[in-house]
Amino acid sequence: MVEFSTLQPDELSELNTVDSRNFGYPPVTDRADIMARVVEPDRFVVAKDNGRIVAGAGSYPMELTLPGGRTLPTSAVTWVSVSATHTRRGITRTMMEWLRAQAERRGEPLLALTASEGGIYERFGYGVSTWHRIVSIDRPRNRLQPLAASTTGGRDDGPTAGVRLIDPFEHVEEILAVYDRYRRNQPGEMSRSADMFAWTFKPKDGELLVGALHPDGFAMWGIKPDWDEGYPRHSLELGDFFAVTEEARQALWKTIMSVDLVGDINARSAVAPNDPLTLLLEDPRGVRTVGLRDHLWLRVEDPIRSFSARTYRIDGSFTVGVVDDHTLSEAYDGPLKRGLFTQVFNVSADGAKPSRRRPDLAVTRASLGPLLLGSASVTTLAAGRRLKVDPSMYSALDAFFGIAPLPHCRSYF
Ligand SMILES: CC(C)(COP(=O)(O)OP(=O)(O)OC[C@H]1O[C@@H](n2cnc3c(N)ncnc32)[C@H](O)[C@@H]1OP(=O)(O)O)[C@@H](O)C(=O)NCCC(=O)NCCS
Repeated sequence: MVEFSTLQPDELSELNTVDSRNFGYPPVTDRADIMARVVEPDRFVVAKDNGRIVAGAGSYPMELTLPGGRTLPTSAVTWVSVSATHTRRGITRTMMEWLRAQAERRGEPLLALTASEGGIYERFGYGVSTWHRIVSIDRPRNRLQPLAASTTGGRDDGPTAGVRLIDPFEHVEEILAVYDRYRRNQPGEMSRSADMFAWTFKPKDGELLVGALHPDGFAMWGIKPDWDEGYPRHSLELGDFFAVTEEARQALWKTIMSVDLVGDINARSAVAPNDPLTLLLEDPRGVRTVGLRDHLWLRVEDPIRSFSARTYRIDGSFTVGVVDDHTLSEAYDGPLKRGLFTQVFNVSADGAKPSRRRPDLAVTRASLGPLLLGSASVTTLAAGRRLKVDPSMYSALDAFFGIAPLPHCRSYF
């Protein structure tokens, strides 16, 4: 019989073995010390059959930045996996409920995760709330726009002034100090601790990671060599990039574009969907978007607290009814009825509070995430059948909930 219990500290190594098998990579051995520091056992649940772990899931305590710059405590859900001998019998469903209840108990109004597959998590109330733009830049064919002659005294791509090339893991505190300034102004971004930075980014033996540190920004990359018999075209894999000021952004890109022997610069998450990089290059087609993918999925567990914490661009007052999966089609097709809603709240520029009014709009639990972060417009959510509202209200709601630039998350956990 399968039984669920909180992870015990001496079970981490067994969970590591089970989890790595389920995800298809070798168990973590080289960074076991960091793993033991980031995993707080009492935030993890395991399923055991005859005393042996067959599944596990947990969360890290993090913070998420909302539009306007306030942050909220967030359960960063992770390590969700079930052994092949025990899948499709509801184990993940039970663990997701354990994590939801834990977040409620700990006063964490949001749960966040990144998904291995797109079809799993909407049923648990998680919606795509930030997007990754996967890009490739053909470096030899591209260059940065020259800065205005008055600032440089001639044609120049701009200075790399202030940038130092470093070993990132010898400068973690400095990097995180800049990162903290960055993420507090970037809706959709997560907090990072030194241990989490090492856990998510530290290279395996033999891999080289180069850091470029500016007083107001940071970039980090690895090189995949390709000497091609004397016609070198290495790939520069940009793992991280953030800038607090435009000067830092310019200097860091100038540095990255100056790494000789590199052919393509590839970035999975470092370039935001509406990143200004396209405008910084001479040829706007130089940033080739090779993919657009979901990154952060959010479950808004406490809408009152969450929608009170963000700001809104214009005045307005709307009553929102939250619909859980099974009543969704009724809410779409029938008249808006109170009984269909698991929660009803009013949101205005002053914040959110519970309401007994008839909702102006019905929204699925999973779509509260993109609504909260402003990553999908109300019009788009309605066209995608995740939200129902009288179309005459689309433009007012888009103006109220929308943000620019779009939220972005460069963090993994
Ligand atoms: C994905 C995984 C965690 C699902 O675990 P599970 O215990 O089989 O899931 P459950 O039996 O609780 O299924 C819950 C629901 O999710 C659905 N589901 C499960 N895995 C799914 C998948 N890969 N794609 C789509 N739907 C899936 C089930 O059909 C079920 O739907 P229903 O309750 O609406 O009928 C498991 O297959 C696994 O460990 N995969 C490898 C590691 C991984 O990808 N983990 C996710 C990390 S983000």
